[in-house]
Amino acid sequence: AVAVGRRVKSRRSWARAVAVVTDLEEGCATPYSRLRQVVDAMAVEMHAGLASDGGSKLKMLLTFVDALPDGNETGTFYALDLGAATFRVLKIQLGGKQSRILWRQVEQHTIPPALVSSTSEDLFDFLAMTLKNFVERNNDGFEQSDKRKELGLTFPFPVRQLSVSSGILIKWTKGFAIRDTVGKDVTQCLQEALTKRGLDMQVAALVNDTVGTLALGHYYDEDTVAAVIIGTGTNACYIERTDAIIKCQGLLTNSGGMVINMEWGSFWSSHLPRTPYDFALDDETLNRNDQGFEKMISGMYLGDIVRRVLLRIALESDVLGNSARSLSIPFILGTPLMAAMREDDTPNLEEVGKILEENLQMPDLSLKARRLVVRVCDVVTQRAARLGAAGIVGILKKIGRDGSGGVASGRARGKPKRTVVAVEGGLYAGYSTFREYLNEAVVEILGAEVARNVVLRVFEDGSGIGAALLAASLSSDR
Ligand code: GLC
Repeated sequence: AVAVGRRVKSRRSWARAVAVVTDLEEGCATPYSRLRQVVDAMAVEMHAGLASDGGSKLKMLLTFVDALPDGNETGTFYALDLGAATFRVLKIQLGGKQSRILWRQVEQHTIPPALVSSTSEDLFDFLAMTLKNFVERNNDGFEQSDKRKELGLTFPFPVRQLSVSSGILIKWTKGFAIRDTVGKDVTQCLQEALTKRGLDMQVAALVNDTVGTLALGHYYDEDTVAAVIIGTGTNACYIERTDAIIKCQGLLTNSGGMVINMEWGSFWSSHLPRTPYDFALDDETLNRNDQGFEKMISGMYLGDIVRRVLLRIALESDVLGNSARSLSIPFILGTPLMAAMREDDTPNLEEVGKILEENLQMPDLSLKARRLVVRVCDVVTQRAARLGAAGIVGILKKIGRDGSGGVASGRARGKPKRTVVAVEGGLYAGYSTFREYLNEAVVEILGAEVARNVVLRVFEDGSGIGAALLAASLSSDR
């Protein structure tokens, strides 16, 4: 009788665990019809954000970048590319159309975690000092000494640009919290720190990481019209016609266009499939009620959504053993671990077992339980990737490249143009399941025929190299 009782108990427990996952699947569902609604909402919000400041959660920020590098740039340029946990300093030498990037030197550094919530002065002084060391180490004497060294600064946060080379930080995202930088001109902050460190260098371009990626994309492929980052955070930028930027009437550029930094991380629509786990996650972030799209898609958050689901399973059943305590620790399950579990292709999911044991103190899980964990990782990954795809198609719709005849942009029907979207970020570039889900969803939404003209192309290091290229193209314009 005891054995039978135990079996019944275990069956009930298992049923409760499965019910949690089934609920999750329903809550995260992204069928075609829903993705179409997200596409439409994205295009509508883009219009609204271009119509007036504050007209939408999408900020649709002007970048003052009206021409993108095309290969003709020459000379030596630097870039400082701030990431989330790391930053890169780089130097490139450009040889013009035939030879392109002759030479490049890239150095990656970790940002000491304490700096992320320190003071503006500390952060920029640290960046300036690292840059100075880099410049001194890589001074090969070939540069013209009469020319001031020019720098592209990639600053991956929402900035209200004052010009192509200056702009004010609107707010931090992705866990940064240095209160006294908000409202300040980021270029001036760095410029002051450089002067203090005795480094004679000029910030020639201040760009969002998406804009850097677009610049590199365009440098190699002139059909590149948009760029998307899906890494720690997520965002997109694209080339808009100036006459569509209603909030800035009379804006004139030589090209008739300007790159718009959408800040799509803060996109919101009632059509987004939001679960109680998303609400709970949002509640515990530094930027509550903000960056809703980003919190469903990007690397900073996906692992923690999975953790929350696993915690629920652990609380409602005994399928995950005695793991509720370790699963209660926020961010203990990072997205890279989540990805590794989803991609474990050993027949018995040994890798999953190892990851859970080593990182979450969850030893000896049954194969069935490990399979359930993988299913959770899959659901969260799939929702993220498919929403990212809907965002991309939303941009294509806005610029009339989604095969709908260009109604949105007033373009006439014609031969479909090849459209390249440059992509950067670890989630897309380094997590193949995510990439496949996203690519498949783009085809599903657009239809195979239209999708044939749409190319998503990864540009690694795009944000940094692109910033240096923009510094170069701006300096050859002068
Ligand atoms: C966050 C930032 C945005 C950046 C993105 C990707 O969403 O607000 O500026 O482009 O992360 O790094």
